[in-house]
Amino acid sequence: FTAEAYPQVHRNPAFKVPGPEDVKYFRSFLDADEVLEAPQGDDEALVSFNQDWMNKYRGQSNLVLLPKSTEKVSKIMKYCNEQKLAVVPQGGNTDLVGASVPVFDEIILSLKQMNKIRDFDPVSGAFKCDAGVVMKDAHQFLRDNDHIFPLDLPSRNACQVGGVVSTNAGGLNLLRYGSLHGNVLGLEVVLPNGEIISNIDALRKDNTGYDLKQLFIGAEGTIGVITGVSILAAAKPKAFNNVFIGLESFDVVQTLFVKAKKELSEILSAFEFMDRGSIKCTIEYLKDMPFLLKNQHNFYVLIETSGSNQAHDSEKLTTFIQNALDEKLISEAKVSDNIDEYNTIWTWRKSVPPACNSYGGMYKYDMSLKLKDLYSVSEAVTKRLDAAGLIGDAPKPIVASVGYGHVGDGNIHLNIAVREFTKEIEGLLEPFVYEYIQSKKGSISAEHGVGFHKHGHLHYCRSEIEIRFMKEIKKHYDPNFILNPYKYV
Ligand code: MLT
Ligand code: ZN
Repeated sequence: FTAEAYPQVHRNPAFKVPGPEDVKYFRSFLDADEVLEAPQGDDEALVSFNQDWMNKYRGQSNLVLLPKSTEKVSKIMKYCNEQKLAVVPQGGNTDLVGASVPVFDEIILSLKQMNKIRDFDPVSGAFKCDAGVVMKDAHQFLRDNDHIFPLDLPSRNACQVGGVVSTNAGGLNLLRYGSLHGNVLGLEVVLPNGEIISNIDALRKDNTGYDLKQLFIGAEGTIGVITGVSILAAAKPKAFNNVFIGLESFDVVQTLFVKAKKELSEILSAFEFMDRGSIKCTIEYLKDMPFLLKNQHNFYVLIETSGSNQAHDSEKLTTFIQNALDEKLISEAKVSDNIDEYNTIWTWRKSVPPACNSYGGMYKYDMSLKLKDLYSVSEAVTKRLDAAGLIGDAPKPIVASVGYGHVGDGNIHLNIAVREFTKEIEGLLEPFVYEYIQSKKGSISAEHGVGFHKHGHLHYCRSEIEIRFMKEIKKHYDPNFILNPYKYV
């Protein structure tokens, strides 16, 4: 969708249209490869910066700046603030709510050339890097140093550390390592007026005053541009194991989760679920890869353990699975026997988002609910779309309604995989999904953020006073509203 698809959103006339004199100024202190301009009339030149990963949102920016230092980011922001030029900070552009692409002609501030690892302390585990370091490179560096990055995501090959922190993404191991609000030790941030605020050298414990960095974690680049991150890396476990399980109801998913917490306890590091629709799409997407289980099931669970002793952990996991089979809790299971099988099992989980996106696009919701209600939102939405006769083989517009997510975090992702985006589908989904979440006292954004998609919808899970506070914070940091406009609050 370009902005024309949203007639209710108007370009803020207070923002200056970026012109040749602005580009001339930027070129006066940026290298040639730090400025990208779209040639006149060429709408496609900057498409990879203007368009999001889901092909759902597309801005119309003609200018991308890719500074290589914090000082340059600061100079850019100071000028943009003085000139009232709107700016969208951008990491790996894998965001899922239209937060990292422009809506109109905002200047794109890409962090991708700020990609250096700054420091690592193997004693405390403190890892410092530029915001633009790609997550897989952070993982690789830390693995080589016997540690792990405390967060993993299906988009790890493209997403950047700064973007992940700005989104407050949770990922696949939050159950074990906790959220970024706990793991981030310090941040370096450029404010809209160009000031640099940094506590990147912070120690693990620091109670001197308000913990300002927390505001930038999950702020989606609306009050400052994160340029550097210090994060607590965990010691690398010696043994990783996983299992892929087929079972028949979401009640059993919950029973199995309680059992896993009790019986796998300290080695449990992920507990993910997928429904039948998830596997339908991944089977079609991973067509050359044989599926792990013999039969079709209503639900699938991936459990990962990580610990310090392979023989002990394997035995614990196999006993747990055997008991669950004996108790007839689960129908079928495939335990990984080696690293290749371990990776294959994860591939089936991590491929759910790209599989859903591969038919044309997807409507995407990311919600927190009490565990007992977690899957009910997917059932309610699927029923509604089915009743309208929209799900099925082509020419029906919807391929599948897919529910999956992080049981340990009470977080479900609902992907409506479509052949085309239509106003009819959109009208059936919204505000129904949000009203449903509100009725169950859930959250309309668990880990993907608010962005353009959920802008204006915060009242479904935040009180009036909370929203007023958020607006005051935005105004305090960004009085000209130039940073990532039309989004968030
Ligand atoms: C996931 O859990 O796979 C991620 O949040 C990404 C997604 O849902 O697309
Ligand atoms: Zn997720």
